[in-house]
Amino acid sequence: YHIVHLASEMAPVAKVGGLGDVVTGLGRALQKKHHRVEIIIPKYKTLDMSGIKNFKKLNKHFYSYFEGAEHENMVWTGVVEGLRVFFIDPLHPAEFFNRGGIYCEPDDFKRFTYFSRASLEFLLQFGKRPHLIHCHDWPVAVVAPLCKSIYSSAGLTSKLAFTCHNFEPQGKESMEALTSCGLQFQAPLHTDHFQDNISADRINVLKGGLVHSDFVTTVSPTYAKEVLTPEGGEGLHTTLRAMTKKFYGVVNGIDDTVWNPATDPHLEEHFSMDDLKGKEVLKNKLRLRLGLANLGIDAKRPLVCCVSRLVPQKGVHLLRSAIFHTLNRGGQFILQGTSQDPVIKKDFDELAQQFENHPHVRLVLRYEETLTHNIYGAADIFVIPSIFEPCGLTQMYSMRYGTIPVVRKTGGLADSVFDVDQKHAVVEKRNGFTFSEPTEEALASALDRALLYYKEHPDWWKALVSKVMRIDMSWDAAPIDQYIKLYEHTVQEGHPPAS
Ligand code: ADP
Ligand code: GLC
Repeated sequence: YHIVHLASEMAPVAKVGGLGDVVTGLGRALQKKHHRVEIIIPKYKTLDMSGIKNFKKLNKHFYSYFEGAEHENMVWTGVVEGLRVFFIDPLHPAEFFNRGGIYCEPDDFKRFTYFSRASLEFLLQFGKRPHLIHCHDWPVAVVAPLCKSIYSSAGLTSKLAFTCHNFEPQGKESMEALTSCGLQFQAPLHTDHFQDNISADRINVLKGGLVHSDFVTTVSPTYAKEVLTPEGGEGLHTTLRAMTKKFYGVVNGIDDTVWNPATDPHLEEHFSMDDLKGKEVLKNKLRLRLGLANLGIDAKRPLVCCVSRLVPQKGVHLLRSAIFHTLNRGGQFILQGTSQDPVIKKDFDELAQQFENHPHVRLVLRYEETLTHNIYGAADIFVIPSIFEPCGLTQMYSMRYGTIPVVRKTGGLADSVFDVDQKHAVVEKRNGFTFSEPTEEALASALDRALLYYKEHPDWWKALVSKVMRIDMSWDAAPIDQYIKLYEHTVQEGHPPAS
């Protein structure tokens, strides 16, 4: 099939979080199965050009509608991780993407609504007729309604797949903002499809996208169940309950060729499950690099780490307590994180200062891919105390790099981490430490168990490390076949298989 993915992120050239990894990983896995994959993202000013091959501008410009006028767009193309990518570059309003940020800008709704319409116009005008258009998250949620109301009659009859990576951000705005892209409320569209379930004066673009997609997935089976409840549905549980026939939970895979400790170019030292020496060396190098104590008795201290966006979803207060708890128990802690929330940012900036020259704790509050990979590789234990987590990739990267996860049992974390002490779980599956309550005590108790096993049972620990490295969490292990089945059924039968 010819499948076009639309998203606001794509790793490694425009990545904020896991969404970028999934767009690239899923695309590559589909291509490996001989599907024709193309990706469309905006041409951000901050694109990491080192990740794009054969980058060039297409000769043809095209016009797309926005706020009552036709706007001229350029298109650039290139190859990212072997995938053909088109970058939409509006001439006016050029400032939409030709500036610092990728996501979380105050005018995101406007920028991405523009991008959504322009992407469809690009497909139409450049003669592209994919079997499927696969959209990711609220920024491109207006694509399906636009397609069904305007573009299908113009000849773009692609089926529409939608993956929601997180139901928290939804794109709530005024009706005027929504219709700025020319959306017309004629059958099959109705204003009710966009009416926010909580605020009477807001439209909800995510809701409209869900309603008008041929099928919808989210990124783990447990999260797919959680969002059907009033507690987990972010106001959309009734909408989702009404569409259970086309709603699926498919756990993300990881790209295990990019994330491979034996070959990862970011790693200062390589290792594998058969030879873990490099992991020890890496730990030592990371401690040296960040100025943590690494000699004598300090070399024996367990290294506990976390790499995370610092937002309430990730359980920032629990993360904070994990640092102090690890320190009290004689461990070392490295936290790498970034935050756009001013209050959380200030709190962690102060914490980083407090530990500036500390021998056992370091906070690195910036985005840096190379450091991240070395943290996954060097750590003994990785803490993820999320309040909710649609899938989570960091626990999978950790395990791939022989680092044992300590996670709160929610969403995709509950689907990928199984407690070593959970007697009723299949032994082969048990791969980490979990806790249920979102409290400091529950986290501390799970972390204590991990630290105890690490100190008291080194051989058992080593076996656990090899075991987690052996788990196949790749796209090929299962998720890609699930997606292909959904695509095939939808293209052939006009609707997805019964969920
Ligand atoms: P989310 O998408 O909610 O942030 P995920 O666990 O799915 O959570 O994915 C997070 C991704 O972002 C991972 O690839 C992780 O390595 C990366 N990441 C998070 N923070 C940083 C950072 N400060 N520097 C580099 N990579 C980061
Ligand atoms: C979102 C979720 C995260 C998920 C990622 C990729 O950012 O917060 O849990 O892993 O998308 O699907």
